[in-house]
Amino acid sequence: MATVLYIESSPRKARSHSIAVATAFLEAYRASHEGDTIEKLDLWNTDLPAFDGAMLEAKYAIMHGQPHTPEQADAWRRVTSMFQQFQSADKYVFSLPMWNFGIPYRLKQYIDIITQPGLAFSFSPSEGYKGLVTGKPAVVIYASGGIYSEGSGAESFDLQKPYMKLWLSFIGFTDIHALVVEGTLQGPDVAAKNQAQAIEQAKRLAQVV
Ligand SMILES: Cc1cc2nc3c(=O)[nH]c(=O)nc-3n(C[C@H](O)[C@H](O)[C@H](O)COP(=O)(O)O)c2cc1C
Repeated sequence: MATVLYIESSPRKARSHSIAVATAFLEAYRASHEGDTIEKLDLWNTDLPAFDGAMLEAKYAIMHGQPHTPEQADAWRRVTSMFQQFQSADKYVFSLPMWNFGIPYRLKQYIDIITQPGLAFSFSPSEGYKGLVTGKPAVVIYASGGIYSEGSGAESFDLQKPYMKLWLSFIGFTDIHALVVEGTLQGPDVAAKNQAQAIEQAKRLAQVV
């Protein structure tokens, strides 16, 4: 039985388009994967530590091959435990809004905490960087007020999807699925139509992931 980790990064809750699509995906997933467990990590309701001070120095100590001080070791235990919660899942669902062409800062902060040498990736001079979160699928649900898809002329403004793809690939994912609700600020008709379309795609994808 698989565990799905759902990472939610819109604070808009009932008004959020990305959450609406994620909810439809998870409902359809639950119906077709009886016995699987879905865990939710709401990044606006999670205590994310600032990545500075002893925690930051602990990362540099690892990269420079130096031992941790007791204070760094303490801070690193928190990082390790957050990473282990992430790594323990079998499948991943992310939902995220576009904020200023990129991703919301709470999600970036989470990524900065868990993307660590020896945990999410390794480095060696002979092999370079290697992702360590392997063999697991990720579904990423994107919402944006504007339209950035192919042919829109605004493709290069979209740093949300390319960033998520790059980060997931860097830490080892190869099986990455995208669901997109765009144009959520282009009037209620466009928003409703695009959300309904993404929900239909989400229901189909939930059967096969
Ligand atoms: C702080 C902030 C920044 C935003 N920046 C952008 C942007 O750069 N491009 C865009 O198309 N929409 C932008 N939007 C609009 C959101 O992407 C849009 O409302 C989307 O539906 C949010 O996702 P959600 O409905 O899941 O919360 C921004 C919204 C907020 C609150």
